[in-house]
Parts: sequence; C-alpha cells; structure tokens
Amino acid sequence: MKRIVVVAAALVFSAGAVVAQQDQVKQAQAQMKDNGKNAGALAAMVKGEKPYDQATVNAALAQFEDTVKKFPTLFPESTKGLSPEGDYAASPKIWEDKAGFEAHVASFAKAVADAKGKIKDLDTLKAELPVIGKQCGGCHETYRIKKG
Ligand code: HEC
Repeated sequence: MKRIVVVAAALVFSAGAVVAQQDQVKQAQAQMKDNGKNAGALAAMVKGEKPYDQATVNAALAQFEDTVKKFPTLFPESTKGLSPEGDYAASPKIWEDKAGFEAHVASFAKAVADAKGKIKDLDTLKAELPVIGKQCGGCHETYRIKKG
C-alpha cells in the first residue's frame, strides 16, 4: 500500500513537471511570436505600407532587447524534445551546440544594440532592419525546426 502511494505521488509530481515544461515551451513561443510581430511592423514601414513611427521602432527594439535578456533561460534543457503547437519547434541543436547557440544570441544582441542608436528615420530603418533580420534568420536556420 505504502509503495503504491509513493508511486502515485511520483507520477503526480512528474506530471506537474511536464506541465511546467509545456508552459515554458509556450512562453518561448510567445516571446518569439512577439519578435515576429515587431519585425513585421518594422518591415511594413520599410515597404511603405505604414508611415515611419519612432514609437513603434523603439517598442520593437525594446522587445528584441527583452528577448536577448530572456534567451539564457528561454530554452532550459528540460524542454529538449518538447514542441509547442504550431509550425515551429526548437531544434535539439540548442542544447547539443550550446556554445554555437550562445554565439548567435550574442551577435543578435550586438545587432540590436547597434540599431538602437542608429534608427532615427525611414532611411536608417531601411539600412538597419536587414542587419537585424539576418540575425533572426541566422539563428533560425540552425536552431529552429519547421515542422511537418
Ligand atoms: C538565438 C536564436 C534566435 C534568434 C536570434 C531569433 N530567434 Fe526566432 N526562434 C528561435 C527558435 C529556437 C525558435 C523555435 C521555438 C518556437 O517557435 O517556440 C524561433 C521561432 C520563431 C518564430 C516562430 C514562432 C512560432 O512558433 O510560431 C518567429 C515568428 C520568430 N522566431 C521570429 C524571430 C524574429 C523576428 C527574430 C529577430 C528579431 C528572431 N526570431 C530571432 C531562435 C531565435
């Protein structure tokens, strides 16, 4: 009897841990979706679909900086192999090539910091957005998986 209780308790505990990990995976995805939204807002200005707006630029850069800060805890080892609903998942390479992933985070951080001081009008946005975009794409190429 005692043994059954212990086993049941262990099961409940590990189910709780899985839920926490799924939440973590969802949180990482939400952070990335916000990146996508902000990058989309900047691209709309570059394409002339929206007028240049410094507040939108500043908000996007602030959110990218927030992502940089969160990267070190966004993909804990416990979430390896888990995948959120949707089209994309984190590649196991994040954990298998940690140094490479951290190098991508660092170069993304640098691109965002550089852009922050430079983007003041449409011309400077046009010059800087591809620099940031290259960092997004560079990391995705190796560390993001397109499902299905
Ligand atoms: C250092 C690596 C890295 C950088 C830099 C990075 N991403 Fe990601 N991104 C990922 C990983 C890993 C995933 C897959 C995880 C996920 O989708 O939850 C992802 C997923 C995404 C997704 C898909 C979200 C979904 O599941 O629907 C979008 C959109 C996205 N990133 C946008 C961006 C944009 C825009 C930038 C640049 C401003 C950026 N990312 C920079 C690693 C990165």
